[in-house]
Amino acid sequence: MRTAEYPRPSQVIAHLSDTHLRDPADPLVRGVVDPRPNLVAALAAAAAHAPQGIVLTGDLSDDGTISSYVELRKTVESAAERMSARVIWVNGNHDDRAAFSEVLLGVGTREPLHQVHRLGGLRVLCLDTTVPGRDEGQVTEESLGWLADQLADPAPEGTVLAMHHSPLPVVQDLAASWELHGQQELGGVLAGSDVRAILSGHFHQSGFGTLAGVPVLAATSLCYTQDLSTGRGLRGQAGGQGWHLVQVYPHTVTSTVAPLGHHPTVVAARSAADSAAELARRDIRIPPAPGSDG
Ligand SMILES: [Fe+2]
Ligand SMILES: [Fe+2]
Repeated sequence: MRTAEYPRPSQVIAHLSDTHLRDPADPLVRGVVDPRPNLVAALAAAAAHAPQGIVLTGDLSDDGTISSYVELRKTVESAAERMSARVIWVNGNHDDRAAFSEVLLGVGTREPLHQVHRLGGLRVLCLDTTVPGRDEGQVTEESLGWLADQLADPAPEGTVLAMHHSPLPVVQDLAASWELHGQQELGGVLAGSDVRAILSGHFHQSGFGTLAGVPVLAATSLCYTQDLSTGRGLRGQAGGQGWHLVQVYPHTVTSTVAPLGHHPTVVAARSAADSAAELARRDIRIPPAPGSDG
C-alpha cells in the first residue's frame, strides 16, 4: 500500500472573479458579452468539487445597479445552498459600495468593506482595495491598520486574504494605470503573519506570483479575458473565461485554473467512484483531510 503525497484538502474554495453582471434589462457588457451563463456554468462546475466556500473577488457588478446585485445574489446563493458552501463577497472598482453592501452584506454603507470570515479553522480576511470612482486600487493607512489588527491574532489554520486588485506586476503596460498602489506597504504588514495566500482578480487573466513571500493567486474573469497575443498592448476578448479551484492543505495552498467550455474527449471520462476503484487496484490510498472523519 502506498500513501499519496497529500491528504485530501482541509478546505476547498471555488474562486470566482470579475463576474461583471449588469441590470438584467441591459445585460451585455460593452454591448458584446452576457456574463450570466458563464457564472451559471462556473457554479455548476464548482459544485462537482463540493467546496466549503465560494469566494468572489470583486467587479461582481459591471454597472453597480441594485438589480445586478439582486440577480447575482439569487444565482450564487441558490447554487451555494445546494453545495452547503458559504459565500464570501469582495467588492471591486466596478462595484458600488452602497448597492453592494445593501444587497450582498445586508447593511448599506459607503465605508470601506473590510470583512472577517471563517471556513473551519481557516480565516478569510476581505480587504477593500477600491477607491470610489477610480479603476486603480489603493492600500490605505486605514486598511493597513485594520489588517494589522486582525493579523495580530493568528487563526488555527492560518489566513487567506481576499481582495480585488491583484498585488502583482502588470503584464500589459496600460494596466499600470489601474494597478494597486501601496503594494510594498501591504507586503510589510503581511511579512511574518499567518497569511498563507492572497486571492484576487481585476486583471481578467490568471496570474501567480508572491508578495513578501506570500503566494498571490489571481483568478481570471467570468466576463471577458485579456488577449496576450497583443504583447505589451491590450485587447479584451469574449472567450477564455474561467474560475479557479483553490485547495488548502496543512503546508500549501493551490489554485487550479478551470476554463469554461465543453470540448472533445481525448482521455475517457472517469467518475470519482471509477477512480477510487482504480486506486484500490493500484494499492494507493489518499488519506482523508486532516481532522475529518474520512
Ligand atoms: Fe473586472
Ligand atoms: Fe477591476
